[in-house]
Formats: sequence, structure tokens, C-alpha cells
Amino acid sequence: MAEIHFIEEMKRIGRLDKADQQLLLEMQPAIEQHASEIVNAFYAQLERFENLAAILHAEPGRVEKLKGHLTRWLVSLASKSYDETYYDLRYRIGKRHVEVGLEPRYVIAAMAFCRGITAQIIIETEYANDPRREARMIALNRAMDLDLNIMLQSYDDQRVQQFLEVTGFSKPLFEMLMTGG
Ligand code: HEM
Repeated sequence: MAEIHFIEEMKRIGRLDKADQQLLLEMQPAIEQHASEIVNAFYAQLERFENLAAILHAEPGRVEKLKGHLTRWLVSLASKSYDETYYDLRYRIGKRHVEVGLEPRYVIAAMAFCRGITAQIIIETEYANDPRREARMIALNRAMDLDLNIMLQSYDDQRVQQFLEVTGFSKPLFEMLMTGG
């Protein structure tokens, strides 16, 4: 079987399909309209935890910069295509979190918060009486899961890379050890 790119495989397994994509594109104006409310709630939540607040304030102006990043990220969950370019952008976001020393569990927890607040602010307001309300939330979740998956792949790759550098092992040797081959 020909090798399937990561994002194609994850879309198939996670069932992010054309219908979801259409729903997400329709929702893009609502996401844009409510983005600042979601983004403010997101960082207010992170600020409640001392270790996360320390990362957020490690550089002057970082929170403002991050609010811009998160706004663009949210809006771009509704994408015209979830292709290799989309993958590369999400992979880079993951890599940036690795670089700033953020443990992956915080990204997972933050994504969970993001799902909840997005449901509350967009789905429960704009689409409260929409017959496709549930399908819209499922589509958003599928896109968020795809992103989380790609971001976590950055962590995994980075950790393997560090291990190879420290031990001097080759990648094939490492993979053989991991699979017990
Ligand atoms: C749903 C989870 C999250 C998403 C979608 C997200 C999104 C982003 C994006 C889009 C960037 C910019 C990446 C780039 O430069 O290309 C970024 C960077 C960053 N994020 Fe997150 N983030 C998440 C969770 C968190 C959490 C929990 C923290 C905890 C403090 C955090 C702290 C940071 C920091 C410090 C940077 C680097 C900012 C800089 O370059 O100065 N992120 N994030």
C-alpha cells in the first residue's frame, strides 16, 4: 500500500470529511465574531495556574502576541483544505510549544478547555436552534482533534530526536528496540 500522509490518515480515521469542512466554513464568520471572547477566556483560564502564567509572562508583550496567534488559529480551524500545508502549520505550533518548554499535558488540557468554551460561546448562542447544531460541534471537535494530534506528533518527534542525540543511537536501531524487533 502506498504511504498515506499523516494528515490524510488522521482525517480518515477521525472522520473529518467534506461535510464537516462545509459546516466549518459556514461557521467561520461566527468564529471570527466570537474569537476575542473565546481567546480572552482561554488565557484567563491559563493565568489561573502559576506555572502556566509564568510561561505566558516570560517575555514582555507575550500574552498580547499569543492572543493574536490563538485568534488566527481558531479562525483557521475552518480551512478550505486540511492538507500538507495545514499539517506543517500545526506541526510548527507544536514545535514552538516544545521550544518554550511546555509539557504536552497542558496542551491537551487547554484544548479540552477550548472545546468547552467554544461550545458555550458559539454553538449555544449562534446555533442554539440550528438542526445541525450537534453536527457543527462534532465538526469543530474533529478539527481540534486533528490539530491536537499533529501538535503531539511534534512532541514525540522532538523527544525521539533528543534521545538519538544523547545516546548516539541511529533511528532504525531505536525503532527496532521500540518494536522489540
Ligand atoms: C489548545 C491549545 C493551544 C493552542 C491551539 C495554542 C496555539 C499557539 C499558537 C498558534 C502559537 C504560535 C506558534 C508559532 O509561533 O508558530 C503558540 C505559541 C505559544 N503558546 Fe500556545 N497554544 C495552546 C496551548 C498553550 C498553553 C497551555 C500554553 C501555556 C502557557 C501556551 C503557551 C504558548 C507560548 C509561550 C507560545 C510561544 C509564544 C512566543 O513565541 O513568544 N500555549 N500557541
